[in-house]
Amino acid sequence: MSAPLHLDERQRAMLAEMGVRVWSPVTARAPQAPPAPQAQAAVPAAPAPLARAVVVPAAVAFAPAAPAGAMPVSVLAPPRVSAAAAPERAAHIAQLPWAQLQSAVSECRACGLCQKRQQAVFGVGPAPAAEPLDVLLVGEGPGEQEDLRGEPFVGKAGELLDLILQASGLQRGHGVFITNAVKCRPPANRNPEPEEMAQCAPFLAAQIAALRPRIVVAMGRFAVQATLGSSAPIGQLRGQLHRLQHDGRTPVVVTYHPAYLLRQPQDKARAWADWCLALDALDEARGAATPSA
Ligand code: URA
Repeated sequence: MSAPLHLDERQRAMLAEMGVRVWSPVTARAPQAPPAPQAQAAVPAAPAPLARAVVVPAAVAFAPAAPAGAMPVSVLAPPRVSAAAAPERAAHIAQLPWAQLQSAVSECRACGLCQKRQQAVFGVGPAPAAEPLDVLLVGEGPGEQEDLRGEPFVGKAGELLDLILQASGLQRGHGVFITNAVKCRPPANRNPEPEEMAQCAPFLAAQIAALRPRIVVAMGRFAVQATLGSSAPIGQLRGQLHRLQHDGRTPVVVTYHPAYLLRQPQDKARAWADWCLALDALDEARGAATPSA
């Protein structure tokens, strides 16, 4: 965790001149209650309370970001694209308690992905609690490393994601749950098929219902399909708040997948603007939940 940064006006002006957007929370964020132990992965120590200002470390390397301002919210319902899983199966999954949901994912044989996986990857982060989860991150599907280790985003893309989280004052496992649109590795890292996405959709829906995230960050087009039901390009969807298709309410921020950013580093500035939007939305959601004195 980086040390808290206290920037004076002159330093802020200098960073602004360099095109570096500094994200400042409305209120300093207290760390959430420690997460319940998870079978999937050991969770590192809780992060220090968020600094008043956070600057992306050089490794995330960003350039001029989108201007800050009122958060735009999408008004058009995106087209729905995914085929549906059998309604009875979806209804069965929807009522499973968390531990049984984890077992159901581990034992799932609903599509062909089960044949070549080492293991299904449920996700990593706190178990459902009385308080809503802060952030649900949704990626595409496990890669080779994730398939071996049973935890999402532990390869190169995961290293970048951890840096982005760190720059945002967030940390995997602490108020942040990370999962994927499909829970089993598509062979040779091919794209997930619509049928595979459809069979896995009830698992994501059940995770969302149990965790009740304040905000969702959809990373990449398959995460967008799974959370918004849209096949519109990322470039068209990013920069505004959407609403989760599951409840029509939870804010969703669309951003580039970290693996894409490794290939196209020039888009890191846009990605950072997306994360700033997500942090603003999180602050707003947390504020909305706090009763005024
Ligand atoms: N890419 C993803 O979308 N998810 C992972 O878990 C790892 C890489």
